Amino acid sequence: MSGDRELDVVVFGATGFAGRLVAGHLAGHAPGGVRIGLAGRSERRLADVRAGLGAAASAWPLLVADSADPASVAALARAARVVVSTVGPYRAQGLALVEACAAAGTDYADLTGEVLFVRDSIDRCHEVAAGTGARIVHCCGFDSVPSDLGALLLHHAARADDAGDLQDTTLVLAALKGGISGGTLASLMGQQEEVRASAERRRTVGDPYALSPDRPAEPDLGDERDLNRITYDSDLRMWVGPFAMAGINTRVVRRSNALQDWAYGRRFRYREVAGFGSSPAGAAIGAAVSGALKAAEAGLAFGPSRALLTQLLPAPGQGPSEQTRRTGYFRVQIHTRTSAGVRYLGRIQAKGDPGYAATSVMLGEAALCLALDRDQLPDRAGVLTPATAMGTALATRLRSAGHTLDTRQITELPAHTLRAEVVFG
Ligand SMILES: NC(=O)c1ccc[n+]([C@@H]2O[C@H](COP(=O)([O-])OP(=O)(O)OC[C@H]3O[C@@H](n4cnc5c(N)ncnc54)[C@H](OP(=O)(O)O)[C@@H]3O)[C@@H](O)[C@H]2O)c1
Repeated sequence: MSGDRELDVVVFGATGFAGRLVAGHLAGHAPGGVRIGLAGRSERRLADVRAGLGAAASAWPLLVADSADPASVAALARAARVVVSTVGPYRAQGLALVEACAAAGTDYADLTGEVLFVRDSIDRCHEVAAGTGARIVHCCGFDSVPSDLGALLLHHAARADDAGDLQDTTLVLAALKGGISGGTLASLMGQQEEVRASAERRRTVGDPYALSPDRPAEPDLGDERDLNRITYDSDLRMWVGPFAMAGINTRVVRRSNALQDWAYGRRFRYREVAGFGSSPAGAAIGAAVSGALKAAEAGLAFGPSRALLTQLLPAPGQGPSEQTRRTGYFRVQIHTRTSAGVRYLGRIQAKGDPGYAATSVMLGEAALCLALDRDQLPDRAGVLTPATAMGTALATRLRSAGHTLDTRQITELPAHTLRAEVVFG
């Protein structure tokens, strides 16, 4: 990658809800001397965003680009060492920029959670990016940084103890409080529509190895579909139910394993669930939460209820209030057992609404990691994952930013895993 770029980092989509937050994180936390720019469709609105970011950002250049205009996107990719994009829905708006970054040898990070978009990006850009040295890193927000770094850290812990390969591994969502933005809803509905319209896309999204670099080489570990009902897990000793983000996170984690030549293990079975505790009430709460999520999903899928819901829910550009972002939080636990029978627990948690406050820290730190920590990054290029592109360098940055990421060997389930709670609001 060229070091002679005009800028170190550009935030494309800076006028949007998530983009403003990422720009705000960089304005508050980027070291002095890092050259940052804001990009979007309207110079006037970019100037308004910049004016709200305080003195550190007052001289940041503004770059006008539209994802429908390939020349403007190519110029953007050539202007910076790292482009982070919050322009979504990505499936509709994102590929031109990924192609431009891959061709220009520019590192790229985004917040997509759209499997079909990431698959397209892999098919169209992996080889090109591997050739130019670009690191293309999707899913650098709440989906899928905690999952992907969590699995990597467990692998490192087991390897350091000579405890064998990772085998059955389960991420349990133990606590979550946060909101949703109009842009995220639009992205969810976009993928829902595509999946409904095409059996082939349904198959792609439903494939546990949808993001594999080499699908035929993946191991056959039996049924690895995402959980879709409430069930009692006798190994974890708690009620577990579906976790809405498993559909993207599990595929990212499995891609990370494959990109590292299955270093986690060829019998690495990874799943993600929401935890509802061990008491009988856990089953009832889990059923109620899962039912509400299914109803919301169905409501967004069909004409009349969708029209009504989209009037009530945030529009593009809108998202959770400052109070919701500040008081939100998430806590996940990742349980694993190794081929030597050793058990580990990973703990990833942070204060702040996971999808917006914590996510803007994750994407902002990913941008700084790609721009400033190059000598610590794995020697890899192409369409990567957070773990395979940035690995422990990103974990170190997130810890410095106040997030908890740790692992420990356990012999018994800690009591707190049996008091899982899920809070929406
Ligand atoms: N993974 C996670 O944890 C996570 C968390 C938050 C968000 N997200 C994802 O991030 C994306 C953005 O969410 P959001 O809430 O910030 O959405 P948003 O507020 O609607 O922002 C979308 C941004 O895209 C820009 N845009 C739209 N079309 C464009 C085009 N043709 N060319 C250039 N820019 C264009 C908009 O610019 P204008 O101002 O000019 O319209 C705006 O800046 C969504 O896909 C969402 O799912 C993911």
